[in-house]
Amino acid sequence: MMSSDPKKKLSTESYKGVRDFYPADCAIEQYIFGVWKETCKKFGYEEYMASILEPADLYRGKTSDEIVNEQTYTFTDRGEREVTLRPEMTPTVARLIAGKRKTLYFPVRWFSIPNLFRYERPQRGRLREHFQLNADIFGLPGVEAETEIISLAYEIMRVFGVTDANFEIRINSRKVMNYIIGTLLGKSGDDARKVAQLIDRRSKMEKEVFEKSVNELLGEKDALLLTLLNSKNFEEFVSHLPEEKELSDSFAELKTLLEALNALGIVNVVFDQTLMRGFDYYTGIVFEVFDKNPANPRALFGGGRYDDLLDMFGVEKVPTVGFGMGDVTIRDVLETYDLLPKNLPTSADLYLSAMNKEWTGYVNDLAQNLRRSGVRVIVDYSEGKVGTKVKNADRAKIPFFVLIGEVEKTSGQIKVKNLATGKETVLAEDKIAEFLKQALGN
Ligand code: HAM
Repeated sequence: MMSSDPKKKLSTESYKGVRDFYPADCAIEQYIFGVWKETCKKFGYEEYMASILEPADLYRGKTSDEIVNEQTYTFTDRGEREVTLRPEMTPTVARLIAGKRKTLYFPVRWFSIPNLFRYERPQRGRLREHFQLNADIFGLPGVEAETEIISLAYEIMRVFGVTDANFEIRINSRKVMNYIIGTLLGKSGDDARKVAQLIDRRSKMEKEVFEKSVNELLGEKDALLLTLLNSKNFEEFVSHLPEEKELSDSFAELKTLLEALNALGIVNVVFDQTLMRGFDYYTGIVFEVFDKNPANPRALFGGGRYDDLLDMFGVEKVPTVGFGMGDVTIRDVLETYDLLPKNLPTSADLYLSAMNKEWTGYVNDLAQNLRRSGVRVIVDYSEGKVGTKVKNADRAKIPFFVLIGEVEKTSGQIKVKNLATGKETVLAEDKIAEFLKQALGN
């Protein structure tokens, strides 16, 4: 490979569509991850992790044509293996479950916060790398699994402080859609997938273009699909469908889910027959969560039931329900509603400095003791003016300040200044940690 021109300076920009997290952004990111983790743990979900790299075969023909053919980062490694940077976590978690299928005790509840890579056109709410909370419950065939997973999603929104009026949970059933596409429209295999993918893209297409594409795929049966998709509500939608057991079972399932969620006070749930979810592996109820503010038109969560994904590993099926929730979209929402916490964690509790370089040893020793007692300490090694040191501490939002001079060093009596109130407290060295911890409420 040619080496690049040594005179040409490198750009400080990140690769297109990915983000750098400077500390202030990292603090926000950690806040989001913190809410995700704590809420999942309250529901008894255990954390797992896996590598970013997966064999490319894991995704082929099993997930989504759009993602596999147009959006994956796939390369050949030095051993001629085809490798993909994971575009989603679901095939990975299915692989993990399949690998221990015989020794796990079901139901299994797992969560993870992987970074995922999709070669998308970068735009608001869509990047080429994002972090995504994945929560999945394995081993429950009944609708209690959907109830739990959706109430976990709802709880996350509640903990972030988003009010019910501002977001909506949309649900649909893949079984109903499969019946429509297979039995009523007479499509199977690749043709069925094409119809499903077209419905999935509907909201992103011009009405005329969509209708034309429907006509190309379905001919004179296009009217039926358009009538169904254009139905104003659940009742109207159902009225256009035959009275078949397969359908009535699915409707009953949706109704049970709605009632169970309502009983938990989760009422911002709506039926949406246009909701497809782009992945082939869903087998039952699917759902997405949307912010109602038009500034954020993209889904915050997407998930559903996928009972057959373990087939690809040749092991016995495990009924599964789960979702993914991205960091990009929720951050946009938290900013839209001004919900990001005002006091994100600062770098340290105490700014410790000496009047003179000679006392660096003493200051380091004091800092070490304080750190071992659980106080976060920054040491300023400079010989600058006191005013500058206080300003530095203030700028970094460090709440307490100590300056070591001759008197402090020899007497061991130390003045601790609260920078917000200006109040000074004189303390013996070994009382500082306790004092600070109490003042900080730790
Ligand atoms: P998904 O709908 O592709 O589902 O993604 C879930 C969420 O991840 C989206 O609603 C969005 O918040 C976020 N997201 C997806 N792509 C991007 C992107 N390019 N940039 C920023 N955020 C993005 C899945 O991935 C399924 N595997 C989820 C799942 C888990 N289903 C069952 N278990």
